[in-house]
Amino acid sequence: MAKRHLITSALPYANGPIHIGHLVGCLLPADTYNRYLKMMGEESLFVCGTDEHGVPITLKARKEGKTPQQVVDENHEIIKNALVNFGIEFDHFSRTTNKIHHETARDFFKVLLDNGSFNEEVSAQFYDEEAKQFLADRYIVGNCPNCDYDNAYGDQCERCGKSLSPNELINPKSALTGSAPVLKETKNWYLPLDKIQEEFLNEFIEGKKGQWRSTVYGQCMSWLKEGLKPRAMTRDLDWGVPVPADGAEGKVMYVWFDAPIGYISATKEVAGEQWKKWWLDQETELTHFLGKDNIVFHCLIFPAMLHQHGDFILPTNVPANEFLNLEGQKISTSRDHAIWLHDYNADFPNRRDELRYVLTSIMPETKDADFTWADYQAKVNNELVAILGNFINRVMVLTHKYFDGIIPEATLDPEIKQLLSSVKGINESMGRFNQREALGHFMDIARAGNAYLQNAQPWHLIKDEANLQQVKDCLFTCLHIVKEIGSYSRIFLPDSSNIIISMLNLQNYGHTLSAGHKIGAAQLLFNKVEDAEIDAQREKLVKKQKENKPKEKKAQKEMIQFDDFTKLDLRVGTITEAEKVEKADKLLKLTVDIGDESRTVVSGIAEHFKAEDIKGKQVTLLVNLAPRKLRGIESQGMILMAEDENGKLVFVNPDEAVSPGSGIS
Ligand code: 2FM
Ligand code: ZN
Repeated sequence: MAKRHLITSALPYANGPIHIGHLVGCLLPADTYNRYLKMMGEESLFVCGTDEHGVPITLKARKEGKTPQQVVDENHEIIKNALVNFGIEFDHFSRTTNKIHHETARDFFKVLLDNGSFNEEVSAQFYDEEAKQFLADRYIVGNCPNCDYDNAYGDQCERCGKSLSPNELINPKSALTGSAPVLKETKNWYLPLDKIQEEFLNEFIEGKKGQWRSTVYGQCMSWLKEGLKPRAMTRDLDWGVPVPADGAEGKVMYVWFDAPIGYISATKEVAGEQWKKWWLDQETELTHFLGKDNIVFHCLIFPAMLHQHGDFILPTNVPANEFLNLEGQKISTSRDHAIWLHDYNADFPNRRDELRYVLTSIMPETKDADFTWADYQAKVNNELVAILGNFINRVMVLTHKYFDGIIPEATLDPEIKQLLSSVKGINESMGRFNQREALGHFMDIARAGNAYLQNAQPWHLIKDEANLQQVKDCLFTCLHIVKEIGSYSRIFLPDSSNIIISMLNLQNYGHTLSAGHKIGAAQLLFNKVEDAEIDAQREKLVKKQKENKPKEKKAQKEMIQFDDFTKLDLRVGTITEAEKVEKADKLLKLTVDIGDESRTVVSGIAEHFKAEDIKGKQVTLLVNLAPRKLRGIESQGMILMAEDENGKLVFVNPDEAVSPGSGIS
């Protein structure tokens, strides 16, 4: 084991709240690992915070009529509260707009500047003259050259998936102001990652073979094989850490340059001068927790920065997780297909352990995983309630019943003693960052407890006085299992751990159970998740999905010739009579005056309009449509309606009243 452990979780962007994807990707495993190390008596420090720079925050501010600072202030509070309420125990949760961070990032940049790590380069970039701002590729929109989608981004078309560069867009526009961007020259400071790859990264990553997850190592190797390219570490923007270089007025650091330095500033903030032992001493083990989209930044770019700077330790491990889907679909912030942590906290008060358990049990350590509410219910009911909660409850109740809650003088069953000493499985899995597996070992303790109790059957033994010692041995043993579960719950189920330790009437999980000690009253650890709760959550997702369905561009119908159009005899008419068609929910029978005659028209609009409301309305009627019978009534034409994306119907009528029978062409 290393002398000390520094743990980081990717800093969430302060442009929106936290959902279960963030939680399972990095925050929860980092918290679990930190809890585990602390329980093992290791010295560890878990730092995180909000990532408060970058273009998306400036865009959000612009859209909401706020300053970027207001946006990040609001979101920092929301994120921090949700995480703390969920029981993520940071040693420190900071922000990248703090003064200490700006200073730390600036000093870091300066070292790289002074030791010649950067290349200065002038290039032509798209510029929005109205917003007086250079535009990142993502903030240029236009028509896709491939599929003509009219809202393709400068880096990709979201409709056909084609990778683009901004100059390929047809009619490029700034996403900020809608004006056409112009090309303008600007100077930026580049980190020559190609060179650093040769000098350092190839060897650094190759050295991680067999140590880092194969998914992480594999992704790094594929970047390296492709060959890294120089990357600009500065941006022309007014939101971020100002660049401390001559001629860099109005420029800030690339958000991915300053954000990981946030780990260092957070350490400074919490540890003061001691920060050095965490970052400069080779005996510190640095572990970054993050989702797979952050691998390149933490495994290649940040180590490159640290290497160029010198003095700093490098990450020992980066156990990045794959992605979590929700009910079979990608989690999407923009479509609101997500379970937001603050919603969970509100909908499931005092039930944090349930979500922790389920998320850890499906943690996407080796491949993408799927969260479903049905699985949530099954895991809580069949595992937490039926195995863990049930075992502990039975042991508590029986101890009170047979021994008035006083631990009897007895011997620990040798097999169970062996089992308890072999929970090393948990430690071994945790050491390999296999938290899913570790959780399985943890549940095995409860499974073994249930099997032991079921097999010993103290409720039968107690009937015969001669078996009393056996009953004592049994419950003594079971109580030790309960205690072990209580201790290890500290890692996975912290609220349950507190309850179990308090039920056992112990000061903390380090204390031992001995004969004569009186335990406390039994408390229920978990309740069954009812179908209604799950249905409500599912309905919530479906409802949001309907509301946020992306608008699809309506495909144009087949081309027609002018002659085809002139075949349509369209005339203005006035509805003079309207009544419901019997036994047909959708149909109204209308009489339409078209000047020299009246037509009967059966129209499928009864769910949208009441008969009495539409009398006197002018409409457009297709009069030469071959008549057809609907519910026995001959319909002699068709009324034209406009339909919006929500299925709302509106009559198509002339802008001003005209005499019935007027032709339309
Ligand atoms: O992907 C993200 O959400 C980033 N805000 C993570 C930053 S991690 C770090 F480098 F600070
Ligand atoms: Zn396209």
